[in-house]
Amino acid sequence: MPARHFLDLDQFAPSTLRQVLDRGKALKADKTPKDRPLAGKTLAMLFDKPSLRTRVSFEVGMRQLGGEVVLLSQRDTQLSRGETMADTARVLSRYVDAIMMRTTSRKNLEEMAAHATVPVINGLTDDSHPCQIMADMLTFEEHRGPVKGKVIAWSGDGNNVAASWIHAAVKFGFELRLACPKELQPPKHLLDWAKAQGGKVVLLDDPYAAVKEADCVVTDAWLSMGDENKGETSNRHNLLAPFRVDDRLMDAAKKDAIFMHCLPAHRGEEVTAAVIDGPRSVVWDEAENRLHAQKAILAWCLE
Ligand code: CP
Ligand code: NVA
Repeated sequence: MPARHFLDLDQFAPSTLRQVLDRGKALKADKTPKDRPLAGKTLAMLFDKPSLRTRVSFEVGMRQLGGEVVLLSQRDTQLSRGETMADTARVLSRYVDAIMMRTTSRKNLEEMAAHATVPVINGLTDDSHPCQIMADMLTFEEHRGPVKGKVIAWSGDGNNVAASWIHAAVKFGFELRLACPKELQPPKHLLDWAKAQGGKVVLLDDPYAAVKEADCVVTDAWLSMGDENKGETSNRHNLLAPFRVDDRLMDAAKKDAIFMHCLPAHRGEEVTAAVIDGPRSVVWDEAENRLHAQKAILAWCLE
């Protein structure tokens, strides 16, 4: 049987994603789990970018399921000295039962998945962040019930996290309204894909139009990891300032709208302290839910 990779949400049947999400909810609800479904299994975690949540929640999640982890930064491996991704994948597959990888390019992830004989999980690339959005689905449904048919607004950079939100809108059946500066819109192929799938994904340039009737407002950092090296930082700040989530923008959404952010956050940039530290923010639940959602992903890949 081929390995069960978890690379991007667009590759899954909606029923599979729902099954994983419901498993995450059940794992969260079970405060005294007795079984250790991943006992004897080892996860390699490979990072070539920094992380707090992904690194800790995958390690703790794996241990809670009875498994072990090996943590590797790219510098620790021979990738930094020219060993290929394919050879790294082949070798790791002889030692561990699954590989979670955070890397810059999707190509690296795809090469790892193509040559690994064990499941590969996407822990973020420049293009997407699917584990985050599974946690976000869990968080939304805990606070506001089934996400199907709801309206979610994104205000900010059309980045990797926004891309996984687009995938999720199609797979979970909610309306996604993205307000982004025209220079920082998500790639057109993603919007075309959503349209071809019959998804409700709308691109706007006015955050106030996007949040009208929204059940949830989401944003992310103005500079994603790696953007610092692309120059023009101050220009990005100027472009994104009108998309900052503040109380006025939240007040234009539904009365009981919640605020989400994958973190790390930059108060005073993409979101004000009043919003992220205020009563409409669910960001700490969202961070916690990385653990529960990823335990369900690990179980799906490995059981
Ligand atoms: N949200 C998220 O992935 O956080 P880290 O970069 O800390 O893992
Ligand atoms: N868009 C952000 C997400 C961090 C979890 C980044 O890629 O840096």
